[in-house]
Amino acid sequence: MCGIVAYIGPREAYPILIKGLKRLEYRGYDSAGIALLDGTLEVYKKAGKVADLDEACEGIDKTAHIGMGHTRWATHGEPNDRNAHPHESQSGEMAIIHNGIIENYASLKEALIKKGHTFKSDTDTEVLIHLIEDIRDNTGVSFEESVRMALSQVVGAYAIVIISKTNPEYLIGARKGSPLVVGVGEGEYFMASDATPIVEYTRNVIYLNDGEIAVITVDGLTVKTIDNVAKTPYIHELEINLENLEKGGYEHFMLKEIFEQPKSILDSFRGRIHNNSEIVMAGINQYENKLKNINRIIIVGCGTSWHAGLVGEYLFEEFARIPVEVEYASEFRYRNPVINEDDFVIAISQSGETADTLAAIDLAKEKGATIFGICNVVGSSIPRATDAGAYTHAGPEIGVASTKAFTAQVTALILMSLSVGHKNGHISDTRLRELLIELETIPDKVEKTLKSDKYIEELAAIYKDARNFLYLGRGVGFPVALEGALKLKEISYIHAEGYPAAEMKHGPIALIDEEMPVVVIATQRNHYEKVVSNIQEVKARKGKIIAIVTEGDTVVKGIADYVIEIPDTEEAFLPLLATIPLQLLSYHIAVMRGCNVDQPRNLAKSVTVE
Ligand code: G6P
Repeated sequence: MCGIVAYIGPREAYPILIKGLKRLEYRGYDSAGIALLDGTLEVYKKAGKVADLDEACEGIDKTAHIGMGHTRWATHGEPNDRNAHPHESQSGEMAIIHNGIIENYASLKEALIKKGHTFKSDTDTEVLIHLIEDIRDNTGVSFEESVRMALSQVVGAYAIVIISKTNPEYLIGARKGSPLVVGVGEGEYFMASDATPIVEYTRNVIYLNDGEIAVITVDGLTVKTIDNVAKTPYIHELEINLENLEKGGYEHFMLKEIFEQPKSILDSFRGRIHNNSEIVMAGINQYENKLKNINRIIIVGCGTSWHAGLVGEYLFEEFARIPVEVEYASEFRYRNPVINEDDFVIAISQSGETADTLAAIDLAKEKGATIFGICNVVGSSIPRATDAGAYTHAGPEIGVASTKAFTAQVTALILMSLSVGHKNGHISDTRLRELLIELETIPDKVEKTLKSDKYIEELAAIYKDARNFLYLGRGVGFPVALEGALKLKEISYIHAEGYPAAEMKHGPIALIDEEMPVVVIATQRNHYEKVVSNIQEVKARKGKIIAIVTEGDTVVKGIADYVIEIPDTEEAFLPLLATIPLQLLSYHIAVMRGCNVDQPRNLAKSVTVE
């Protein structure tokens, strides 16, 4: 939550900051602000989107070469101009941008108020910049030292950048729990929540570790810990493709990302399948022996990643015969889960930054479990907190509603479960070959599925005003139903529920009337007849059925109001195809309802608060 970006160097900072903030808007878009340092320290901030801020900044002096910007997802204090970042110190001489939460801000604030500080906002962040200035002015320590001393008093999570009028050659950044990337250019430096605002200026970046402070001066960059121990930073070379950060002719990032799935699925298994007889995933291969004998796997994640985890449960049980528990990361960490060194935990996250998932990892680690990560964003916090892992290689996902990341996560889980199942003797060489050959056909089958787009748009026009939707599926179709319902809720604000088809009669059936569209995953593999019966039950109560069926289906076609055909595939690979029409249905409904598809209200793509 919240995106931060900062620049120091020979270029004008303003355009870099505004462009960077637009790239980071997926992290929050309640309000935005910038600070420019050029002899004076000027702060401009506004409730609303980055574009509103840019418009409000028309006519200001934009020649400063040092500056920082922030796009906010509100935690403390409502999203108005006053609570927008940057926040200034008591004298207005320093400013800060912050992503995270200062948990002990109330006690720090009380102490500062007693000392005569007055606050302009309701935020936790403003307290921190007041504290830094207070320490500097009352102890006589340097700017850098005052930041270090203040951070040692802070409880909570942060990625911050601070600038000061009396130290105009400085840019100081620090992180604990929230991400901060430093871009190292030729005589210029950048700081940002992720690499996307940096990549077009330099490909050299440093991912700060928790508890580290980066200090940039005219003499260059130094990285230290909060305890003042110097560190030698490792410079990574970015591999992000700039085109992936643009809409590429599509009206929305979400639509572009839906249509990218033939390629993103291919990219998730490319290079990992050898001769259709072996799966090479360095992370998983190194734990082969442990995995052969483990008692169970625990999968943790949030939102769409949790849905991928439910598919993972099916896959590991089916292919590797290992019992799996799938947990919401937030629930897992607040229970007292029974877990030990014999457990294998898989943490799934697109962003690699979700606070609850990170906390679940920490808890599982404490108890001695082996932790494996499935993440999309390279260099993010989760891959660095796990013992091993696999990147999904779906490329940057900008639309807040996750689409291609989900199918990439499922692909990674398919490879992992097949690899383990093959190694532990539950999948024969012949069966593995058959499955891998089928997996390789999936990108083409996704391409074919996407051809239903126009038809799905017509269906969206029919149902765009529905007030409720029900999504039903069985087996591996159940997580697909959950994911379809989540997509609709997220971007169109229509209430939707995903249910195991057979459970419908234990409650949701009471909701069904002629107004209720029911989307059913009714492909022709396992449970087909049972699902047909469920469809009959809905029809008997005058519900409207939109069914996802296998090409050539005649039975469901005869009963359902509308059918969307997908190519046939292995039951276990079904989510890779069946999810796609549901993504498109939500997309078109949301567009027709005039919703902001890429930036739905109240949501953020990277949830770095608990
Ligand atoms: C947010 C996003 C969802 C995402 C979830 C988990 O709620 O809006 O799209 O599924 O976080 O995020 P992660 O990055 O951990 O997959």
